[in-house]
Amino acid sequence: MPTFKSHIMVCDVERDDGAHCGNKGGAEVKERVVRTLSKLGLRSSVYVSSAGCTSQHRLCDMQECSMIVYGPDSEATWYVVNTENVEEVIEKHLVQGEKSEDHINEGMRIDLKS
Ligand code: FES
Repeated sequence: MPTFKSHIMVCDVERDDGAHCGNKGGAEVKERVVRTLSKLGLRSSVYVSSAGCTSQHRLCDMQECSMIVYGPDSEATWYVVNTENVEEVIEKHLVQGEKSEDHINEGMRIDLKS
């Protein structure tokens, strides 16, 4: 069984109201995540999956969706991203080891150490 260093969950839920992440590019973002990980040589160490609705889609006035990154430490970081910035977020978070502050979901900061 493989051991992953991180887990990226991208919300791609679609609904008729057009306001959910899947209506705003969630599937395309997930595809971009997979391509970016392959480009960076991280595809085998980062697990990628879809996330169900976590009630964050109303935050996104633009064409953006919710993305949660677990790891590489025991931390979860919630982002709001689109196809234009998700590569930058992944590179900063997983390669440089820093959170991509400009794209963090401020309403969902998780601090497991407190
Ligand atoms: S549809 Fe993505 S958070 Fe609700």
